Amino acid sequence: MTNSVAAVEYDYEVAKRFTVMTVVWGIVGMAVGVLIAAQLVWPALNFDTPWLSFGRLRPLHTNAVIFAFGGCALMGSSLFVVQRTCQARLFALPLAHFVFWGWQLVIVLAAITLPMGLTSSKEYAELEWPIDILITIVWVSYAIVFFGTIMRRKTPHIYVANWFYGAFIVTVAVLHVINSLAVPVSLGKSYSIYPGAIDAMIQWWYGHNAVGFYLTAGFLGMMYYFVPKQAERPVYSYRLSIVHFWALISVYIWAGPHHLHYTALPDWAQSLGMVMSLILLAPSWGGMINGMMTLSGAWHKLRTDPILRFLVVSLSFYGMSTFEGPMMSIKTVNSLSHYTDWTIGHVHSGALGWVAMISIGMVYHLVPVLFEKKKMHSIPLINLHFWLATIGTVLYIASMWVNGIVQGLMWRAYNADGSLTYSFVESVVASGPGYIIRFIGGGMFLVGMLVMAWNVWQTIGPKARAALNNTDAGAVNTAAEGAA
Ligand code: HEM
Ligand code: HEM
Repeated sequence: MTNSVAAVEYDYEVAKRFTVMTVVWGIVGMAVGVLIAAQLVWPALNFDTPWLSFGRLRPLHTNAVIFAFGGCALMGSSLFVVQRTCQARLFALPLAHFVFWGWQLVIVLAAITLPMGLTSSKEYAELEWPIDILITIVWVSYAIVFFGTIMRRKTPHIYVANWFYGAFIVTVAVLHVINSLAVPVSLGKSYSIYPGAIDAMIQWWYGHNAVGFYLTAGFLGMMYYFVPKQAERPVYSYRLSIVHFWALISVYIWAGPHHLHYTALPDWAQSLGMVMSLILLAPSWGGMINGMMTLSGAWHKLRTDPILRFLVVSLSFYGMSTFEGPMMSIKTVNSLSHYTDWTIGHVHSGALGWVAMISIGMVYHLVPVLFEKKKMHSIPLINLHFWLATIGTVLYIASMWVNGIVQGLMWRAYNADGSLTYSFVESVVASGPGYIIRFIGGGMFLVGMLVMAWNVWQTIGPKARAALNNTDAGAVNTAAEGAA
């Protein structure tokens, strides 16, 4: 980073709106998560209503947490970070406003069509073709604003956070367009252009790289700005950040077939996916270690700064889930874990522990900066949120690990005569206590989000809240920018 300090004007309005909506959609998405967790304990909670059934609400949950909560966190933070680190105002401001409103429209359309049962049936790409086209238009606009701002930069080089955000933007565009290619038969129904096993391969090339670039590279971009800022320390090793960037993006793209072990996919492709997943441990841990070591000399701050605690614990969960993932990609391990709650535990150690925790840390850092307040309204409430989120995550993932291993072992237990020892229903009964603990853990995480909403509401105050409803108000902020 440059050391120069210059008076620069920034456009914060879009980042403000995205940050507030991160909190709103986080609550909505997680509330649906808690509801479907409850349905797995008390199935009667679907009230015999099709649009409240587990099968329709599950994709609503995944879309809401990934694309609404995660998407607003990524778009808002990237459109803030790119300005600050490039010392330039947003390129094409009206287009940036279009990105905000366009993305909210996508979310609302998803929230209407998924409970109606309109789905392409591709996981994490369930939305039907008209919404897919809208996503493409909004995403390309987002890319124009982001890269246009980089081109306007007054700094001599592009800070590493922008490399990660940039890779996330470009790759998600390619993944979305290729995986969504379909032949429409009506406004609400289309069929994939790919046949059989090729469709599965393309889908999991998309699915895994949605994890790699959306849930990982984008959030690493966030990490590379907010961890050094909150710790008030420079990145531990700038060289490591560049090395692990190139290693991460070149390895991730090959690992998709680990989702299709023991399927009709050619065996060599499955083995390639497994080997690439094992290699992936190295760049993943490169990023985790770089983030952690940034705290060198600042560890004492963890005692008093709950925002930093969110950021550091998120890195620990990132390290944990990127160790667990490669292990689960080993075919013999996968033969136990696949189809069980172990996968759900892995998903949420990444989703709650890494993605949600780093986003929460980002929101707590960003809200006072964007709304020109000294600090958040209540630090003890951030502390309370931290413990609710951490204990909630641990309850969630530990119960799913136990469930997963119990299910895997019960399903593969044979009697001497070759018959199955347990019926499927017996494994469902054995999973009951785990589902109750997951419901409690998820509930705690959700309560933490409500605490955050109240804290954010109090911090931004009535004047700023009124200004948020007025597109022109407070669009420009002037700030003296130091190094990131
Ligand atoms: C209060 C917090 C949350 C609760 C209670 C919750 C609950 C659930 C439940 C019950 C399922 C379905 C599991 C099954 O089919 O057996 C699920 C799936 C899923 N959730 Fe969450 N969730 C929460 C937060 C999140 C967050 C923040 C994310 C992402 C950032 C996330 C991403 C996912 C994904 C990707 C799946 C699908 C997993 C798969 O297909 O293997 N969840 N969640
Ligand atoms: C080195 C990094 C990682 C590797 C090699 C990896 C590997 C795996 C493997 C082997 C599975 C199970 C596939 C199956 O049996 O169906 C899986 C599932 C999953 N992982 Fe990871 N993982 C990694 C990191 C992460 C992170 C950081 C997240 C979240 C932020 C994540 C999210 C998911 C999701 C959402 C699924 C469920 C996909 C589905 O079936 O719907 N993974 N991962």
